[in-house]
This record gives sequence, C-alpha cells and structure tokens, in this order.
Amino acid sequence: MAKMQLSIFIAVTLLFFSSPTTTAKTASPPAPILPPTPAPAPAPDHVNLTELLSVAGPFHTFLDYLLSSGVIETFQNQANNTEEGITIFVPKDDAFKAQKNPPLSNLTKDQLKQLLLFHAIPHYYSLSEFKNLSQSGPVSTFAGGQYSLKFTDVSGTVRIDSLWTRTKVSSSVFSTDPVAVYQVNRVLLPEAIFGTDVPPMPAPAPAPVVSSPSDSPSADSEGVASPKSSHKNSAKSLAFAPIAVAVSGLVAALFL
Ligand SMILES: *[C@@H]1O[C@H](CO)[C@@H](O)[C@H](O)[C@H]1NC(C)=O
Ligand SMILES: *[C@@H]1O[C@H](CO)[C@@H](O)[C@H](O)[C@H]1NC(C)=O
Ligand SMILES: *[C@@H]1O[C@H](CO)[C@@H](O)[C@H](O)[C@H]1NC(C)=O
Ligand SMILES: *[C@@H]1O[C@H](CO)[C@@H](O)[C@H](O)[C@H]1NC(C)=O
Repeated sequence: MAKMQLSIFIAVTLLFFSSPTTTAKTASPPAPILPPTPAPAPAPDHVNLTELLSVAGPFHTFLDYLLSSGVIETFQNQANNTEEGITIFVPKDDAFKAQKNPPLSNLTKDQLKQLLLFHAIPHYYSLSEFKNLSQSGPVSTFAGGQYSLKFTDVSGTVRIDSLWTRTKVSSSVFSTDPVAVYQVNRVLLPEAIFGTDVPPMPAPAPAPVVSSPSDSPSADSEGVASPKSSHKNSAKSLAFAPIAVAVSGLVAALFL
C-alpha cells in the first residue's frame, strides 16, 4: 500500500516536473519566430545582373565594361535595394560596334565609368511609367545631375533623345520591381563628356548598320506595347512575374 502510494507519488512528481519542460520545449520556439515576420512582403528574388546580362542580348561588350570598371558593383547594389531599384538601358554588342564617331576607345577610365553610369537610373521604372516621365523633364542618371536623359513617349514607344544620341527602347529584357533592363539601339553619349560640338547629322546616318529586325515598326510595337499592359500588375504581385514579363526564356529560367 505504502509502496504503491510512493510510486504514484513519484510518477506524479515526475509528470509535474517533466511536463512543463516538455511543453516549454515545444511551445516556446514558435513564439519568438513568428513576430519578426509580420509583413506579407515576400523576400524579393535577388536578381543577379551579371547572370542576366550574360544570357540575354548579346550584351557582352556592355557587361565586360561593367565588370572591368567595377560599375557592376554599383548597379548590383542598387538592384538589391528594393526601395528604389534600378532601370538600366543596355546597348547590344552591335551598337558598340557601330559606335565609331566619336570612338569610345579615346575615353579615359573615368569618362568610361561616367558613360556606363549614364546608362542607368537609380529607380525602377516600368515602361508605362515613362509616359509620365516624358512630361516631367530630364531625369538624372546614376552619373549625376549633369548627366540626365530626356524621355518621350511616341505612341507607346519610349524614345531617348539627346544632342548626341537618338534612340529608343527596342525591347524589355527584364522588368520586375525593383529591376528593369531595357535594350536600346545605340550607345548613349553624354554631353557632359562629348561636349556640345556635335558632328553634323550624327543620328540618322547609322541606321543601316543597326538595322536589325528590332528596328522595324512592327517589332517595336510588339516589344513595347505588350509588356506595357501587364507590367503594373505583375510588378505588384511580384510572385513569379519574371516568367510573364521576361522576354527571353533563358532569363526566366534563372528564377526557376
Ligand atoms: C552572380 O553571377 C555571377 C556569374 O554566375 C557569379 O560569379 C556571382 O558570384 C553572382 N553574384 C551574386 C551576388 O550572386
Ligand atoms: C546583392 O544581394 C545578394 C543576395 O543577397 C548578395 O549576395 C550580394 O553580395 C549583394 N550584392 C551587392 C553588390 O550588394
Ligand atoms: C582618338 O585617339 C587617337 C589616337 O590616340 C587620335 O588619333 C584620334 O584623333 C582621337 N579621336 C578623337 C575623336 O579624339
Ligand atoms: C501618371 O500620371 C497620371 C496623371 O497624370 C496618374 O494618374 C498616374 O497614376 C501616373 N502613373 C504612373 C505610373 O505614375
């Protein structure tokens, strides 16, 4: 009898001491883990610009310049910044080949760096937002205030016109907040480097050199109009919009 009471007492005592620790073990971990993630904001997919530019395009010349100058770090850092994001205008290899007058080979290291920074804006803009930008005057690029770009929207096509360069966004390579990469037909030449002494008729002449299918009006309306309608929503839902937005299947594959 006494023996049985003792064993019951021991069992109860063991239960009493063990249960709080076991429940504490199972109950306590979820408590501190849940509060730090209250916002529904999904951890955005990190876009690796080096990878993106190496599979799209071909943009090898531009990418090589970015890597050798170290500007890729600046761009990647901004691409990681989900508050502001980045918009990059990328000339194809053809455009660099066609850039003979003035030649880029004469630029100093610093000037080349400025020229590269001139190809990006430290803010994400979807194509549809350029319509508004065209009414708000020149936009400062990554190279600073003296290095601004003027955009105009010509029936859905984003044109970039400066003293030295007349070109347009010929396709959307990638556009999901916070990163936009748009292909342009020409290297963008800042006045701050090349001055205001423009050789006569610089823009219309090179047309035959760059005349790829993307130069035709029909390719244009495809490249610009179709992402336009879907951009806003896909950028907001952020989920796996890259697949819907990315023009190239290779680019989409990066995210799978
Ligand atoms: C981006 O991709 C390149 C090429 O694949 C790789 O060398 C680099 O380490 C990657 N960078 C980051 C930050 O993931
Ligand atoms: C960008 O973010 C990735 C992933 O978090 C990180 O590996 C990389 O170092 C970052 N790069 C820069 C330049 O901030
Ligand atoms: C570029 O440099 C070469 C040699 O360094 C020179 O002959 C040429 O005139 C320069 N071109 C321009 C446009 O400055
Ligand atoms: C563009 O401007 C209009 C009014 O001018 C505004 O309603 C619209 O939200 C703006 N769109 C963007 C993308 O900023």
